Amino acid sequence: MQTDNHAKRILLGISGGIAAYKAPMLVRNLRKMGADVVPVLTQNATRFVTETALQAVADNRPRTDLWDADAEAAMGHIELARWADALIIAPATANVIARLANGIADDLLTTLYLATTAPVFVAPAMNVKMWEHAATGRNLERLRDDGVTVLGPADGAQACGEFGPGRMIEPDEIAEKVTAAIGTPRVLDGTRVLITAGPTREFLDPVRFISNRSSGRQGFALAEAAHNAGAQVTLVAGPVHLPTPTGIERIDVVSAKQMKDAVTCRAPHADIFVSVAAVADYRPHTVHGQKLKKSQQRSTDFRVALKENEDIVGSIAGVKPRPFVVGFAAETESPLEHAREKRRRKCMDAIVVNDVSDPAIGFDSSDNAVTLIHAGGEVGLPKMRKGAIARRLVDEIAALYASAGRG
Ligand code: CTP
Repeated sequence: MQTDNHAKRILLGISGGIAAYKAPMLVRNLRKMGADVVPVLTQNATRFVTETALQAVADNRPRTDLWDADAEAAMGHIELARWADALIIAPATANVIARLANGIADDLLTTLYLATTAPVFVAPAMNVKMWEHAATGRNLERLRDDGVTVLGPADGAQACGEFGPGRMIEPDEIAEKVTAAIGTPRVLDGTRVLITAGPTREFLDPVRFISNRSSGRQGFALAEAAHNAGAQVTLVAGPVHLPTPTGIERIDVVSAKQMKDAVTCRAPHADIFVSVAAVADYRPHTVHGQKLKKSQQRSTDFRVALKENEDIVGSIAGVKPRPFVVGFAAETESPLEHAREKRRRKCMDAIVVNDVSDPAIGFDSSDNAVTLIHAGGEVGLPKMRKGAIARRLVDEIAALYASAGRG
């Protein structure tokens, strides 16, 4: 076991679900990121993954038993709880989540959970019906209230043949999220950051609307990265299917008008405003109270009159005092030229531009590549995961904010 102060020391709790077969891969992912990992298995977990496999990849002896005299002599369980920089429980079954939520410490893993003061992460993995059960929801809510970070679950095909939420998120994603949360320098400590994300919907009648392809993923990743860097984050989100990152205040809105109202009353309390949302530029001039009928149109050439939505970022950036303002631009041609012009026109301190004509980055992709443009220069960030882009952007924005004399 390493004693190096810089290596992150991770207790990896493994409980008895089929996803436990992925635990050796998670150990490898964590070790690749420089962590020292001690696996801790529940009795049921030993039915799905062997101690031999975990010993080989962790290079530390896995622990399974509170009453193992040899292991306790080498490092007692309280000492082990103190040693950890983080406790990850992956997979976390419905049963282990229930025991943790209720403070039941009847084996080594649940005892370590109560005894450690390190940040705790759980990656739930269970059948979709078990996931949707009210008891599981209550238990997870309690864990969140107790400061535990819940990672996932993912949606998809399950080992039991069902389909839906309940799959453990992949080991590389768990490793990435945990190392980002515990290893991120707190460059935004003490700041209040307001972020918009996702599309807006502009209704024509009760069933039809104008919108765009924004998934909200880049804005949500940025909110998570800013939180991990120490900021107090408020996220104003358009209609998207994304879970709220832990520790973030989320305000759901639908239309550009609602987004503007939500931002306008919060901006005076923010130090930094990042406008990632793809706000619809126009809304239907008339919103019909009832569903429009085809027969109501006199010609086959149906026209909808539109009126312009107010520019949210422009309205915040144009008034003093104001927060440090960062905009986003998704362009399909001459991205840098358009973004430079937009930054000046909307009085923004910086703008982040990406080229959405490339299907490998942008809208529905999990990758992105962007350029950050500010008054003093331009920084290009090559293609990488949206989470990694978000972390780099947070570093850049924090540095610009500090050099503008506001940090
Ligand atoms: N934006 C906003 N309110 C709007 C429209 C855009 O706050 N009504 C913000 C976006 O969140 C983004 C920036 O303005 O940060 C640039 O958005 P974009 O749609 O590219 O700008 P437009 O001025 O609408 O330019 P375009 O002519 O390319 O549509």
